Amino acid sequence: MDLDILNTLKLTKVATSKIDTFDFENVKFGDKFTDHMLVCEYKNGSWGTLEIKPYAPITLDPSARVFHYGQAIFEGMKTYKEENDDIWMFRPDQNFERFNKSAIRLAMPAIDETRFIGGLKELIKVEKDWVRKGLGNSLYIRPFMIATESGVIASPSNEFLFCILLSPAKSYYAGKIKVQIADYYSRAANGGIGAAKAAGNYSAQFYPTKLAQEAGFNQVIWTDSNHTHLEEAGTMNVFFRINDTLFTAPTSDRILDGVTRKSLIELGESLGYDIKIEPVKVETILEAAKNGSLKEIFGAGTAAVVNQIEGFAYKDNYYQLPEMADEDSYALQLKNALTKLQNKLADDPFNWTVKI
Ligand SMILES: Cc1ncc(COP(=O)(O)O)c(C=O)c1O
Repeated sequence: MDLDILNTLKLTKVATSKIDTFDFENVKFGDKFTDHMLVCEYKNGSWGTLEIKPYAPITLDPSARVFHYGQAIFEGMKTYKEENDDIWMFRPDQNFERFNKSAIRLAMPAIDETRFIGGLKELIKVEKDWVRKGLGNSLYIRPFMIATESGVIASPSNEFLFCILLSPAKSYYAGKIKVQIADYYSRAANGGIGAAKAAGNYSAQFYPTKLAQEAGFNQVIWTDSNHTHLEEAGTMNVFFRINDTLFTAPTSDRILDGVTRKSLIELGESLGYDIKIEPVKVETILEAAKNGSLKEIFGAGTAAVVNQIEGFAYKDNYYQLPEMADEDSYALQLKNALTKLQNKLADDPFNWTVKI
């Protein structure tokens, strides 16, 4: 960490916190934000002073590149409070590295660890009362970077804004979801930006997801360019359990390298699960669903941690997965183990949790 950068951080606090008016019992994910945000501008080839200031709208020129060419990336991570009031982040190094990989792919400047992780720690310290204790409570962290230079010229911006927002989150049992396997639309292409957490990947998903929802499904399982392999579930990585083996696709330039995915793989292996990282064919899953060996499908991502899937549609057929007792579900065993570790209610032999 470069202490000069942190020592010159400019802090402007709100006159009155809105925390007393916030309903921590009825939290809608990503809906409301804490009192402050962190900002930092990139100009003339370098990042400037870190600033923590009251959460407020950003003013940009209408011709700013982000509005026209979508030069925008983001991250999603969480922070937790232990019973003794210590606050912990989960694998922030992974989000920091992925943010810079996304930046490079979108022709944006990388940011240093002091501004990203050091700045985030300072912001969380200011907002420590917004992090609530207890399993299921967390503060969702949304770092993002946008192209701010004006001019409707289709070339990379020379000016950028880095910003971090914080939003209280509560994990609910969202219930199992029904998904539709994509056989026409794609979220990512070979050599495209699917592996980056780029804003455009999400807007590209909205329309096919809306069609799936109109047909009675919650999400789309994205496939590769030929629609022969299963790659992601909505905005989550995806796991398939055939008999007692868990399968998940290897990451590629079409798949986001999820922190939850890689953590579940390591955690599962440490629990003795048989996990295979290999391309998963649509036809393999159809066959397994028909012969009864397909036991579970679940998505994995920061927001929901694990989201169980109860059945899927492929073309005109619907395949329902078998009922299973909660204690037999790999999805729930893994979710339980990971959330306990994140909330410091279980040991962390991997050293994934980082104290603030
Ligand atoms: C497309 C996509 N895949 C997978 C994930 C899961 O990544 P992570 O576990 O790092 O949240 C996300 C983000 O939540 C995502 O947006």
